[in-house]
Amino acid sequence: MAMFKTDPVRPPAYAGFEKPTPAWFEDAKLGIFVHWGPYSVPAWAEPIGALGTIDPEYWNIHNPYAEWYYNTVRIEGSPAHQHQQEAFGGADYDEFIDLWKAENFDADAVMALVKQTGAGYFVPTTKHHDGVTLWDAPGTDGRNTVARGPKRDLVGEFHDAAERAGVRFGVYYSGGLDWHFSDLPPITGKDDDIMVSRPVGKDYADYAFDHVADLIEKYDPEVLWGDIEWPDAGKPDGPKSMAELFRRFYASRPEGVANDRWGETHWDYGTSEYELGASSEHGTWENNRGVGFSFGHNRLEDESNSLDGPGAIRYFVDVVSRGGNLLLNIGLTASGEVTPLQRRVLTELGAWNSAHGDAIFGSRALPESVAAPSESPWTRWTASADGTTAYAIVDAPAGTVVTLEVNGATREVTLPERDEVGPAVVAPPLSA
Ligand code: GLC
Repeated sequence: MAMFKTDPVRPPAYAGFEKPTPAWFEDAKLGIFVHWGPYSVPAWAEPIGALGTIDPEYWNIHNPYAEWYYNTVRIEGSPAHQHQQEAFGGADYDEFIDLWKAENFDADAVMALVKQTGAGYFVPTTKHHDGVTLWDAPGTDGRNTVARGPKRDLVGEFHDAAERAGVRFGVYYSGGLDWHFSDLPPITGKDDDIMVSRPVGKDYADYAFDHVADLIEKYDPEVLWGDIEWPDAGKPDGPKSMAELFRRFYASRPEGVANDRWGETHWDYGTSEYELGASSEHGTWENNRGVGFSFGHNRLEDESNSLDGPGAIRYFVDVVSRGGNLLLNIGLTASGEVTPLQRRVLTELGAWNSAHGDAIFGSRALPESVAAPSESPWTRWTASADGTTAYAIVDAPAGTVVTLEVNGATREVTLPERDEVGPAVVAPPLSA
């Protein structure tokens, strides 16, 4: 997918935004992502597997991303299309906006859960591909959560809660796709479809510009998390260009970071998603995924297609050991709650992080020449930022004696007792 950048191509208008990665982002390691929208009402997708492991032609018709419901139901013959007939009499997607009440939503309660994971930043969707904005965005003509459905400024509530909790705030914005703004047919198959079935003209570029400018002004985000692309007409420098948005963003947040999905313009870090986009996992990068196979809440998911606590911890540690950050997603229910399954995963991850954060937060990848990862037992390595300590994170029961190779020396280590679920952490000496 062209969404994932391999080689930085920086058009002249965007070259001036280059800067060293702010330390806070490299040190944070963990962010929490939230997908929430009218799609959380049907909350329906086939949990077929992880992105990057499924044939793209099969993917779209059986899309496991519940936030893609508006697209999937428009594909004749898709199981989602049939489900929409049976469960909702084929109702118009926009009816879900009014059915979405967010009646139990408490941003501080969500943020308390986020905070205890140890995450340094938090990124909610502000407009996903269905085009519904979670704040009173300019030009939306009432198609937003302030005028309809929840009747609340959800972006503002998340922002204020993050500020109170001392968690950095970012915004996800889909600039590439807006199924409401355009009349384009649903995306059905080939991998490249997504890049050609997107609005690219000046009308949409100006509309999206006004949205992101408003997000920057009202909520002062520290992470600009774009998705898919940016409308082509908005790329050349000018008063309503992506360059102008980056100027405003960095003027307000010199230490802010932007991901790599704002088209071939500028980015501070690369992204990969589930198993896709490994070519972006170098330099400063972030992998993102849901607890299950979907970002939006999906009623069809259960333990069998989701990470459990220990699985999420291993996934996180693996990313960190390779020098990346993890942006782990939860999908809120239409009423605004975190499901028990996702809550348990975040709680177990948080308990492990609070016991072993020294090996994780602010750490660096350890060169493989010093010590290499292994699958038996599962072992990953990190290093302290000053390079004086190497941490081995080993998934085996307490009391197991493991043999670790560090700088050519062999160390026998007995894994300690621990209260929390997840792997053990040991710090064998780096030199004799
Ligand atoms: C993809 C998907 C989307 C999800 C996102 C998260 O672009 O289209 O549904 O929001 O990535 O990385």
